[in-house]
Amino acid sequence: DSIMRVWALLWALGLLLKEVHAWGYRNGVFHNSIWLEQAAGVYHRESRKGRYQLTYKEAIAVCKYEGGSLATYDQLEAARQIGFHVCSAGWFGKGRVGYPIVKPGAQCGFGKIGIIDYGYRLNKSERWDVYCYNPDAKECGGVLTEQQKILQSPGFPEEYQNEQICYWHIRVRLGQRVHLQFLEFDVEDDIDCLADYLEVYDSYDDVTGFVGRFCGDYLPYDIISTGNVMTLKFLSDASVTAGGFQLQYKAVNASSISQNIKDFLN
Ligand SMILES: *[C@@H]1O[C@H](CO)[C@@H](O)[C@H](O)[C@H]1NC(C)=O
Ligand SMILES: *[C@@H]1O[C@H](CO)[C@@H](O)[C@H](O)[C@H]1NC(C)=O
Repeated sequence: DSIMRVWALLWALGLLLKEVHAWGYRNGVFHNSIWLEQAAGVYHRESRKGRYQLTYKEAIAVCKYEGGSLATYDQLEAARQIGFHVCSAGWFGKGRVGYPIVKPGAQCGFGKIGIIDYGYRLNKSERWDVYCYNPDAKECGGVLTEQQKILQSPGFPEEYQNEQICYWHIRVRLGQRVHLQFLEFDVEDDIDCLADYLEVYDSYDDVTGFVGRFCGDYLPYDIISTGNVMTLKFLSDASVTAGGFQLQYKAVNASSISQNIKDFLN
């Protein structure tokens, strides 16, 4: 165990030095790492009333409601190491506030990388978002690293609820791509999908790599990422729900994709 710790520390140091190219990690080293085990299960939540509305007490309740707890700093950092990037400050363990930044940007994180840490808040009535940890209940979002998995809208096959916001961050090994297939799809329909929608990003976050926004009951085509990450964001507004969706992703070796496409076309 202590060897693992030393190894992890050295590895983390190495990573810091490489931070500029940071998030494109080498040789699938993350697979089976202790970071991954800690990271899977971390997710971000905001209040149903919107951004930055949760007191510390309310933040704890939000995580608890779903059977989880506040993420610890280490869990949040572990998630960040595999690409969990959220531009919203939230409560996490022991009354601390911050957010995980993978790629520096002027708009977010003051150009820094890491956990942007606002420290332990003395005033627990301040209002922020929250970072929860629950490895057993990733139904509404989470960091996913399995080679394949079925994702579904919260409560599926029951209708999803109003005012949901879920982020799924999918990360497979370097050199692999994410092949997303829609199995069932029924999301409140409206022109431009402004009410409820599922968005897909060919990226580790929901800022770059926008692929599409989906609603209605038309089954979208398969989507294959260009890199080893993909982000899904599901949002439902305050009224009208629908049956929800079920999707499957599979890690595919980048080199075998052209062959797959050929097979598909034949
Ligand atoms: C604590 O924060 C709340 C919300 O920002 C604010 O209304 C209140 O005045 C603060 N209390 C103190 C003692 O600063
Ligand atoms: C993908 O590549 C890995 C490592 O090169 C190999 O072990 C695995 O069998 C490949 N999987 C498929 C489905 O081709």
